[in-house]
Formats: sequence, structure tokens, C-alpha cells
Amino acid sequence: MEKKNRLILALDVTDREHALRIANEVSDYVDSIKVGYPLVLGEGLGIVKELVEIAPVIADFKVADIPNTDRLICEHVFNAGAAGIITHGFTGRDSLDSCVKVANDFGTDVYVVTEMSHPGGVEFFRPVAEDIAKMAVEAGASGVVAPATRPERVKDIRKIIGEELSIISPGVGAQGGSAADVIRAGADWVIVGRSIYNSDSPAEVAKKICDEMNC
Ligand code: C5P
Repeated sequence: MEKKNRLILALDVTDREHALRIANEVSDYVDSIKVGYPLVLGEGLGIVKELVEIAPVIADFKVADIPNTDRLICEHVFNAGAAGIITHGFTGRDSLDSCVKVANDFGTDVYVVTEMSHPGGVEFFRPVAEDIAKMAVEAGASGVVAPATRPERVKDIRKIIGEELSIISPGVGAQGGSAADVIRAGADWVIVGRSIYNSDSPAEVAKKICDEMNC
């Protein structure tokens, strides 16, 4: 993903018109659009094909299954035009390897969740986050997902993964995280959803977040 604005839009709206309107309004300010279950279950995977005309799409399906099922999910998502996918890592190295292999065949990216951004994200993830980050490096993932709500954890994870892998970081705005703080802690991109798509002026909010990050 080209690092221009450092902002990824989390497009968790559930209908096509709304999704396309927000995506078009903020397209000058985002490097990618993250699409997950809310929109794809609402509108089908075809929405990815429409959104890639506006910006590269990352599919946030937090893939977490056996290697063969993971492979099938990744193939569908990349055939629909997504440039990247978010997977879990707790399912183990063979599952992650399967996603990375498909991504390599398509020339796309895999981002592995290390620790989630909501309060419950520390309950089970905290003890394994660093091992998952190490595994993401060893498996050849493109990057990891780490919480903007805990910039100190982003710093820890950056130390583990080095400079080669990217950190994409949700939790800015509605969940309380600051874009500037998490970029300073070592994130490459922030992921922002509700603060942008629930606003009366999505483009203004997106621009303000970009300005905060000096992009
Ligand atoms: O609306 P908000 O800005 O909180 O959206 C954050 C987005 O990032 C949501 O799509 C959420 O599912 C996603 N996410 C997260 N924490 C993770 C991984 C993904 O909040 N660890």
C-alpha cells in the first residue's frame, strides 16, 4: 500500500449507496478502504469490486480457520479485487502460511491481528500478542494490526517486528485513540471508522486526522 495519507477508512456501513457516498467523499484523504463483515454481509462481495475503483481495499475478515478454509476465503477476497486481507494469528502458523501463500500468488498483502483495540482486547490477546507478532514476521506477512488505544503496545510490537513490516492501527476517534500519538509510537497507518462515516462532514474529519499526522 502506498504511504501517502497514512489514513485507512473503516467502512462499516451496511448499505451500498451510503458506502459509495462516504468512500467518494473521503477518497482524497485515504490510502485504503477497509471493508468487513457489516458491509459485505449487507451488500455481498461485489461491493469490493465497486470500491476498488475508488481506493485499494483491505478485507477485514479476521480470517481464523484451518488452512484449507483460509485459502478458499483469501482466494475469493483477492479475486474480488482486494489488495489486502486481515487475518488472525492465534489459529497457528499453518493457517497463516496458507493466507500468505495465496497473497503471494496474487501479489497482495496479509495483515495479522496482534492485539485488538477494544477493552476486551487485553483479556486473551495480551499474553500472546508478541508471539503472534514474531510469527507474522517469520511467515512473511506484510504487516500487523495493533491498537491505537494503547500506543505503548504499538511501540512494543514495533520493536518485535522491526522496520520491514507495516503496522496498521485501529482505535482512533470513537474508541479514544489519538492518530498523532500512535503514529509517534510507530504505526504506519491509522484505521478510522465511526468518527468519519458518522460525521456530517466526513471529508473534513478525514482531512483533520491527516493534518494531525502531518501528511
Ligand atoms: O469505528 P472505529 O474507528 O472504532 O472502527 C475501527 C475498525 O477497526 C472497525 O472496523 C473494527 O472492526 C476494526 N478493528 C479494531 N481492532 C482491531 C482490529 C480491527 O477496532 N484489533
